[in-house]
Amino acid sequence: MKNNFEKLFERTHIGKHGVKNRFVYAPMGIGYNYASGCIDDPGIEYYSERARGGVGMLNIGFQNVSNKLDPMMMQAYGIGTPMQEMGWARLCERVHGYGTSVMVQLSCGLGRCAQVIPGVPNVSASVNNNFWDPSTQTRALSTEEVRAIPGCFEAAAAACKRAGVDCIEIHGHVGYLLDQFMTPLWNRREDEYGPQSFENKMRLTTEIYEACRKAVGPDYPIVFRMVIEHNIPGGRTREESAEIIRYLDGLGVDAFDVDMGCYDAYEWIFPTAYMEDGCMVDDAGAFAKSITDKPVFTVGSHTPETALKAVEEGKSDFIVVGRGMLADPEFANKLYYGHREDIRPCIKCNRYCLSATGRSCDSSCSVNPQVLHEKTYAITKKPVSRNIAVIGGGVAGMEAARVAALSGHSVTIYERSGGLGGQLIPAAAPSFKNRIQMLNDYYQVQLKKLGVSIVYNKEIHADSPELKHAYKIIVATGAKAAIPPIPGIHNENVMEVSNLHRSGSSVSGQKVIIAGGGPSGCDCALELAMEGKEVTIIEMLPKLYPTATVDNRYSVERRIREENICVMTGTKIKELTPSGAIVENADGVQELHADTVILAMGMKPDHEIAKSIADKYVNAVIIGDCKAIGQIGEAVHDGFMAGWTIE
Ligand SMILES: Cc1cc2nc3c(=O)[nH]c(=O)nc-3n(C[C@H](O)[C@H](O)[C@H](O)COP(=O)(O)OP(=O)(O)OC[C@H]3O[C@@H](n4cnc5c(N)ncnc54)[C@H](O)[C@@H]3O)c2cc1C
Ligand SMILES: Cc1cc2nc3c(=O)[nH]c(=O)nc-3n(C[C@H](O)[C@H](O)[C@H](O)COP(=O)(O)O)c2cc1C
Repeated sequence: MKNNFEKLFERTHIGKHGVKNRFVYAPMGIGYNYASGCIDDPGIEYYSERARGGVGMLNIGFQNVSNKLDPMMMQAYGIGTPMQEMGWARLCERVHGYGTSVMVQLSCGLGRCAQVIPGVPNVSASVNNNFWDPSTQTRALSTEEVRAIPGCFEAAAAACKRAGVDCIEIHGHVGYLLDQFMTPLWNRREDEYGPQSFENKMRLTTEIYEACRKAVGPDYPIVFRMVIEHNIPGGRTREESAEIIRYLDGLGVDAFDVDMGCYDAYEWIFPTAYMEDGCMVDDAGAFAKSITDKPVFTVGSHTPETALKAVEEGKSDFIVVGRGMLADPEFANKLYYGHREDIRPCIKCNRYCLSATGRSCDSSCSVNPQVLHEKTYAITKKPVSRNIAVIGGGVAGMEAARVAALSGHSVTIYERSGGLGGQLIPAAAPSFKNRIQMLNDYYQVQLKKLGVSIVYNKEIHADSPELKHAYKIIVATGAKAAIPPIPGIHNENVMEVSNLHRSGSSVSGQKVIIAGGGPSGCDCALELAMEGKEVTIIEMLPKLYPTATVDNRYSVERRIREENICVMTGTKIKELTPSGAIVENADGVQELHADTVILAMGMKPDHEIAKSIADKYVNAVIIGDCKAIGQIGEAVHDGFMAGWTIE
């Protein structure tokens, strides 16, 4: 098959095991049953979908070897039992049919990075502060407890081999329990596992490797996952990594899966929109390649282009893709068959995959609501084709139209403006939000390929004749900017953030005030600071970007510091003036000078028309921001369901 990415589809070996191409699905500790700790039916469907999508090897992330070490796993009754092995075996049987290899990542847990569960002990190499709740400390494992760990790995590795797993990976990265032993910052033990010598600090890793090797024999591939640099003071340096890689290479490790960071440098583990695509290729991949001749795996927000470049430049042998294949399980096949434009991009938002706990449901993906529901939410052609009217061509409306059209319905989008995308257009304006632009492009290509009719410059309301014959009306009219009644808000030097981005006009003057420190305010501040403007963010609440979780906060705060943006929290704007703003905070009232003020005070649903349509038509459903202000993830999930439920 002719494509521009042939180098990524070369058969590549780990030890004696040949993998059908260079793509590896990143280990992501989802897809197993939380009660048992084992792979269950939804997990098998989830992984199979990625195998069907052409990935060379699936890494079944974070499989615990013991339920005694990690507070989150202590109730998991299947760990270390035949049930765990059966899950791996059923998975292998299924995905081997696609020619996909299976690697199981074996782990002894998160140590100080595990969530605190009241009353359940959190363990580490030494007494360390828990990452999530630094007022809680870990207990240091006793020497006997440490000595018992390699035996658990041995049993799990033997079970993997029996189950038909092709390869195992030892989970030694980003400051989890095993890495805590390998790192003097977290290991201050005085027994034979302490940091006094290289041999001692590596003893647990060595014993684990040897136990696994004993279980699987000399020819079975064992991969080691480790970070090259923790990127925090006192963390691992490149020199230490070189020594560790040389040592493990000599011991017999067959390949190295390398990345960067640790929980205290969070953005490296789960790279955000503020990090570059392929962000670990040079620092991790190329570095490891300079130390070992064994195959190297490199991760970190790969696009097909960064993946190809890394392989062509000899910086990586395998390309590990995580969230990119959550977003699009067919990532590899679409490239292979020459359909690069059909890949649905991960937008690096970390909201549905990582911040899932805040939504009381399972991990998912902002742009792919089928994650972990591959079978339940499969899109099938419906026996009868219906006429569907979608009002609004933002992301909610586009997703609804895509899914309805894939289901065989005849779909028309009515869009008030002259183009598709809605708020995706201003959201994608900062250069670091290029993935949102890619998402908008993806939808436009899909809607065209699916033959969805689009009527531009058409405002629909309850009396519009277009609605009369629709079988279902999907109302996705979105939101408009919230403009609070602050004196001077309509001054000439005041611009609203979406209008600014839509108009493409430049911001006049050097000094800019951003009124509102939410996500769009922070992004706009960064964008303008990167252009060389002097930017001040005024936020009424005590904290900048209050809705940001740890998954993004670290990055945003770092970038705001790096760009020298002045941040005034707990500060209220009393009046906007032709020369800036009069603000009030605990220090009193002051006047701030600025050439331009940009309003980023949030959005409010544009629901008058939506309500009147829903009042008139029982077959209308309201979705996206016009139902409730959310983000891209909420709009896409709403759109998916609106399209998928058409019978
Ligand atoms: C500046 C900015 C930055 C953002 N950054 C991010 C981000 O980084 N990550 C993230 O997840 N989210 C971000 N968001 C939020 C996200 O873009 C929105 O939540 C999402 O796009 C909402 O999609 P929607 O389809 O519901 O609505 P909209 O995008 O508002 O689309 C509604 C569409 O309906 C059309 N319309 C309205 N009324 C009618 C009518 N009567 N007839 C016909 N057409 C009509 C409108 O013209 C529009 O095209 C950002 C938003 C803004 C404004
Ligand atoms: C939801 C989620 C779960 C993860 N779980 C694991 C895990 O179990 N083991 C592991 O080594 N890495 C884990 N990671 C990190 C990924 O393997 C990968 O390094 C990271 O997502 C960056 O790659 P990407 O940019 O391609 O997503 C996880 C990442 C995510 C998003």
